[in-house]
Amino acid sequence: MKQEITFIQRKELKEKPEMASLGFGKYYSDYMFVMDYHVENGWYDPRIIPYAPLTLDPAAMVFHYGQAIFEGLKAYKAADGTIQLFRPEKNMKRLNDSCDRLCIPQIDETFLLRAIKQLIFTEKDWIPDGEGTSLYIRPFIFSTEPYLGVRPANQYKLLVILSPSGAYYGDQLSPVKIYVEEQYVRAVIGGVGHVKTSGNYAASMKAQEKAEANGFAQILWLDAKENKYVEEVGSMNIFFKINGEVVTPKLNGSILPGVTRDSVIELLKYWNIPVHEAKISIEEIFAAHERGELEEVFGAGTAAVISPVGELHWNERSITINDNKIGQLSQRIYEEITGIQLGKKGDPFNWTV
Ligand code: COI
Repeated sequence: MKQEITFIQRKELKEKPEMASLGFGKYYSDYMFVMDYHVENGWYDPRIIPYAPLTLDPAAMVFHYGQAIFEGLKAYKAADGTIQLFRPEKNMKRLNDSCDRLCIPQIDETFLLRAIKQLIFTEKDWIPDGEGTSLYIRPFIFSTEPYLGVRPANQYKLLVILSPSGAYYGDQLSPVKIYVEEQYVRAVIGGVGHVKTSGNYAASMKAQEKAEANGFAQILWLDAKENKYVEEVGSMNIFFKINGEVVTPKLNGSILPGVTRDSVIELLKYWNIPVHEAKISIEEIFAAHERGELEEVFGAGTAAVISPVGELHWNERSITINDNKIGQLSQRIYEEITGIQLGKKGDPFNWTV
């Protein structure tokens, strides 16, 4: 896409939030990137404009049939002042995979990444530099055509908004209590669980609410068919360290291929720590605990990076992992990935941009 990105300046800049108490996803920067699609024009009118509410037709198809997808990535201010993105090309690729699954037209990945970089340069003063903070980048696409017949829309909007954020969970690495869910499922094979549709998150909330009401922080999702194999934890991928080896559920069509998941696997291989992608049942996890071999459990995702699991509840049993403390490997992975993201460590994989 050769188009120029137009820029419309704000009259007044917003007041910046207190960078020490950002939380996650609560504040938005001064500008956003917007681009439209019409079946007759393709993607057109890319622009960086003041962050503001949108006006949409009440019949916009997204409200009725839910063609909505998103991505999440982060920009960091490195110690030397440079601005770094972490493997952004993977998010661009996954956005197109999500488009494909929901019959949304493909985007030009190179162009969108260029637009994101331009938006971030415009907003560089919004990148926080405190411990555990970053500028969370949220690209998303949804259908806008006013029409009530069921078919892929002919009109869409793509936006990118920026949110200066701190730790996803208040206390970054404190182990969480997890409920293994057997009534509800997150995704099915053949469905949309392997891409980032907004509906996946809508569908997860009922179980999440139930878990919270029972004193748990998150859900551990099992496969939809047999209610037996581990899939994800909350909105993250999951890893188990059993007897010195690490295992994570193999991608099967209903698990999201996380960028952090992939990075953890690559790091472990680089460190010569055995790592397997396998079909793994919840029964095996509890059996490993019984044998005293379940050493660590952690979630991996963009928002929280690494989130240790301290307790698992399944089948009327609760097990405590690593005395409810942060595991050594979880800590090491967290430090390595955030170190690379912040330019504090070497980047042997050329992950940063
Ligand atoms: C992530 O872990 O990065 C997620 O996808 C969570 C996000 C929906 C806030």
